[in-house]
Amino acid sequence: MSKIWLNEQLMEQQQATVQIEDRGFQFGDGIYEVIKVYNGNLFTAEQHIDRFYRCADELKIVIPYTKDKMHQMIYELVEENELGTGHVYMQITRGVAPRTHYFPGNNPQATFVAYTTEGARPVNNLKNGVKTIFQDDIRWLRCDIKSLNLLGAVLAKQTAHEQGCYEAVLHRDEIVTEGSSSNVFGIKEGVLYTHPINNYILNGITRMVMLECCREIGLPVVEEAMTKTQFKSMDELFLTSTTSEVTPIVQIDEVVVGEGHPGEWTRKIQQAFEAKLP
Ligand code: PDD
Repeated sequence: MSKIWLNEQLMEQQQATVQIEDRGFQFGDGIYEVIKVYNGNLFTAEQHIDRFYRCADELKIVIPYTKDKMHQMIYELVEENELGTGHVYMQITRGVAPRTHYFPGNNPQATFVAYTTEGARPVNNLKNGVKTIFQDDIRWLRCDIKSLNLLGAVLAKQTAHEQGCYEAVLHRDEIVTEGSSSNVFGIKEGVLYTHPINNYILNGITRMVMLECCREIGLPVVEEAMTKTQFKSMDELFLTSTTSEVTPIVQIDEVVVGEGHPGEWTRKIQQAFEAKLP
């Protein structure tokens, strides 16, 4: 039995109910975060919580707790559920109100939910790498907001899944943006390339930690978007996310990356990343 937060109540998951006119349910009118937990320790929780508040702010959703209180609630949930390694999922929606597209006038209380899931680190993928495919980036123009509206990502990931691939690498025309649920990176002749932070991608927390690793190991970073052609001709490719950490990409469509196994720089980044884990 596992506990969850529903607003300010810590309760059994089975006892939690959500209203059918919750704007998250009807419009995807809300935001979410996924925070990794290693051996009972939250990783980069502060950065995730900061992003949660920034995204809520962008959508004018008012979170009725301070950041400190939120941190405490998440910590308490992990303790209560005796979570070892896994993650916390949290989301907040604009709340329950009669259905209108515009914001409801009576300022409903936001609906906050958080729960934990056990899950081992993806050691196989980290070691051997994963296959990916290109997919058109059909998402909206505010991908910097971690919105509950994920259909563009869901459809791309499903196509990848049907083709036995782990991730869909998204592109707008010729420009590679990010993965359907990850950021993507290429290394060519000892330089790392990745899409700059703007409205076309989510500023990944793992991306930030990984860039710190690059500085530590002396790998120069250029935050410039790659074309599909450039992406396919990189010496090494990898993706990052909270649950995927630093996962090597060994294939994109029909193109085998480098030698078909994770490259030297990627290994070094993985080691530097691993050294930061709690
Ligand atoms: N996805 N880009 C997109 C579109 C994402 O959905 C994610 C994360 C990232 C990486 O962000 P971070 O490093 O902060 O996890 C980039 C989460 C894990 C998910 O949807 O499950």
